[in-house]
Amino acid sequence: MSDRFLYEGKTKIVEISEDGQNVILTFKDDITAGDGAKHDVMSSKGLFCSEITARLMQYLNTKGVNTMFLNYLPPNKIRAKKLKMIPLEVIVRFKKAGSFVRRYGGTEGEDLPSPLVEFTYKSDVMHDPLVCVEHLEVMGIVNKSIAEKIIEEAKKTAMLLKEFFSLHTFELWDIKFEYGVDEDGNICLGDEISPDTMRLRKSGEIFDKDIYRRDLGNPMEKYEVVLNICRSILL
Ligand code: C5P
Repeated sequence: MSDRFLYEGKTKIVEISEDGQNVILTFKDDITAGDGAKHDVMSSKGLFCSEITARLMQYLNTKGVNTMFLNYLPPNKIRAKKLKMIPLEVIVRFKKAGSFVRRYGGTEGEDLPSPLVEFTYKSDVMHDPLVCVEHLEVMGIVNKSIAEKIIEEAKKTAMLLKEFFSLHTFELWDIKFEYGVDEDGNICLGDEISPDTMRLRKSGEIFDKDIYRRDLGNPMEKYEVVLNICRSILL
């Protein structure tokens, strides 16, 4: 194992760059669902998800969002800013789906009256419990003003991506973000933005990880369609 190795997750490896200044994220061909209960390896998945993440983060950078993205290193790596990650998943929902429908009812695809932001605490042993802003303070994760800043950033970022996809006649139903603090002390968007981390639909057709979760065919064919849209964003 390289002495630059930092962390290996279910779908990514994080290492310090050779010059020691940044991190290199390697996107693996693994796909998982249900807390890792379902796991497969799919050829080209690392390429699709890394290039989609690179191009969407580049788009967000040009719109003034502070993202980790620095360079795309084909086929499946990204050079990114070093971040101190906050152990939260920040979900923005425009429509009811997935765990929202399981918890609160309603119909898949039904509009929410306004964008809804949810936090889950990243903990495998606790199965990523849903937490509210007051939990974040009590648990010492982030204080109220940082939580409010993250809510504002997440809504703004999700709206920009919703607009981008709607230009290509796709509907963004929901999306998950992860944030960290960069070396200047600013909140910065990290991790990944890909069909693994969002629900993306077009005329009822699914272009995201729900294809895999629900055994609806080969998700990589649809991920490639998403990549082709994202190739309109220049790197
Ligand atoms: O399952 P749920 O409805 O809570 O997911 C909301 C959104 O967050 C979906 O787009 C899903 O793909 C994403 N998500 C994720 N990683 C998780 C949980 C959810 O990317 N661990």
